[in-house]
Amino acid sequence: MTDRKETGFYITTPIYYVNDVPHIGHAYTTIACDVLSRWHRMKQEATYFLTGTDEHGQKVQQAAAGRGITPQELCDEVVVNFRRLWEVLGIRNDDFIRTTEERHTKVVRQIFRTLAEKDDIYKGTYEGWYCVPCETYFPDAQIDEERLCPDCRRELVRMSEESYFFRLSRYQDALIEHYEKNPGAIMPKARYNEVMSFIRGGLQDLSISRTTLKWGIPVPGDEKHVVYVWLDALANYLSALGYPESGGIWEKYWPYAHHMVGKDIIRFHAVIWPAVLMALGVKPPVRIFAHGWWTVEGDKMSKSKGNVVDPFEMADLYGKDAFRYFVMREVPFGSDGDFSELGLVGRINSDLANDLGNLLNRTLQMIEKYRGGALPDASVLSCANDVDRALASLAQRTVTDMDRQIDEFALDSALKTLWAFIGAGNKYIDETQPWKLGREGEGTRLDVVLRSLWEVLRLAAILVYPYIPETAGRIWRQLGLGDEMKGTERAGWTWSTSADGIVVEKGDVLFPRIDLAKWKEEKASRDEAKRAGTKGEDKKAVKTGPTFEQIEIADFRKLEIRVAAIEKVEIVEKADKLFKIYLDLGYEKRMIVSSIREFFTPEELIGKKILVLCNLKPAKFRGIESNGMLLAAEADDGKQEILSLATVDDDFPVGSLVS
Ligand code: MSP
Repeated sequence: MTDRKETGFYITTPIYYVNDVPHIGHAYTTIACDVLSRWHRMKQEATYFLTGTDEHGQKVQQAAAGRGITPQELCDEVVVNFRRLWEVLGIRNDDFIRTTEERHTKVVRQIFRTLAEKDDIYKGTYEGWYCVPCETYFPDAQIDEERLCPDCRRELVRMSEESYFFRLSRYQDALIEHYEKNPGAIMPKARYNEVMSFIRGGLQDLSISRTTLKWGIPVPGDEKHVVYVWLDALANYLSALGYPESGGIWEKYWPYAHHMVGKDIIRFHAVIWPAVLMALGVKPPVRIFAHGWWTVEGDKMSKSKGNVVDPFEMADLYGKDAFRYFVMREVPFGSDGDFSELGLVGRINSDLANDLGNLLNRTLQMIEKYRGGALPDASVLSCANDVDRALASLAQRTVTDMDRQIDEFALDSALKTLWAFIGAGNKYIDETQPWKLGREGEGTRLDVVLRSLWEVLRLAAILVYPYIPETAGRIWRQLGLGDEMKGTERAGWTWSTSADGIVVEKGDVLFPRIDLAKWKEEKASRDEAKRAGTKGEDKKAVKTGPTFEQIEIADFRKLEIRVAAIEKVEIVEKADKLFKIYLDLGYEKRMIVSSIREFFTPEELIGKKILVLCNLKPAKFRGIESNGMLLAAEADDGKQEILSLATVDDDFPVGSLVS
């Protein structure tokens, strides 16, 4: 199909810093990797998709100190946001690595040892511009004439400290040779050129340890140093695969390593990381791809401007698939792009509701009207004429073109290709005018048209599945192919299937059209509410669907939620968020640790009848075991986080089960 030789696919996102809330940039990379890995899984290649969090470093240490908790506690708290976002966006990663996990730290130490044994590390002195209050060095490139800290704008001082260095300069020629032989190893081409000229400009050895920082992985044999965060972070791509154990899955997947990154971190990935790998005797990754950055309504995205696009909010308002589709379709993958909510609404109405949704609706309506829902058997396609055959050959071209485009990570182009096919399906209806055939009793001709349209939709559902998996499943079901998307493997990406005896089942509209006038009003009131710091009133106006997977009632029944009375509340010393909450469940007493201290005083809580998840595995907070979790709703009213406990009437019996 393409000249790609690999039979496996290992794809990674950057691991995200835990000092930030997830935004559209994080979501973008992760969605792109999800699309790619779903595609390769459909092709039945050995596929592995890794994401995770980068948890060491100065920023985390300082943020934790500011809140009176340990850095580890801060990481444990923040990592939840990322995990939850991936669930909300339907991300199907195989693993989630955290750099504070033992499986990772031990590999970093091992890598450090190996590099030292090979004389790729030496001890020297690191000198640079340092901000004392921020306890951070800043590279010369970030420093202007005033010599002020780029973060806090206080004066920087010239500092030096003992440091270990990696002999990066030693790998300059090997890197050039590697990239000359493998021009596809850095994409897009502009990034390849940028990296090559950087390497050709001369590489200097790299400081890879710090003594000024405590929150990191100690250097083996010299524990006053911790390993430089970037070396620590990059190593996740190997540690998650169980490197260097022989027989570990790293041997299976590493030959197919692809790193997806944002353009700002290309050098770490395309210079430092391959050099470290060469030093370790491990092959450099097959490809490092740098995507562009999102601006928002033409402006740089920043917290201070208050224009950060919240992917939770977008998924909540428009549904995860619409958001996934929009970010993948809107911008040529690799270039910068601009996010606008109006643009998203436009894509929902035109591409999803009009093109895709209408094709499904019109087709199923006709199969129901003219054939009582029974799909004509595949054998009828032997009576196809030139118009039908042209559609069939476009189907095959669509498959080939999309496969090539996805191999090149041209994720937006692949969608354009697919939409041209969907457009051809709609045009085919206009041309063949099945309603006339229905009237004139041209039985076979109508059968061919209906079956052809159904084949377009079956193929479209498969090809669109990596981008909008939930919607693809809904199409599949309506086409009468069952609740699970079975039979989507490469072998089935053909025009005609032998599936016979199928009965279609028209269901809910895939993407209800959004009324623009109503939407504008709603958006204005939402913006106004954000400015005024109050909650938006009518979010429902544009709600297009659930953001979580549907579950069985049996899944819900696994939860043991009971009514409990709060008897006593104690604060946890040195943890400004935590309370110890003593509960009476009637049949037993128990204690849970909960981080709701910023919302309530102990007096406000005592006597309340709350809902508690009782069969949650015990977990330790600050060394105190918590046995369960209280239920509460959390929100941001624009000014601050707010929280409301799930309670029942005062006289309701404790211990009662919630169902
Ligand atoms: N922790 C490092 C990565 C270590 S990988 C071994 C890091 N983390 S990050 O959380 O700051 O950034 C993660 C990714 O988000 C980067 O790839 C970055 O390019 C991307 N983005 C941050 N803002 C972005 C936009 N506005 N638009 C698109 N992507 C953006 O860097």
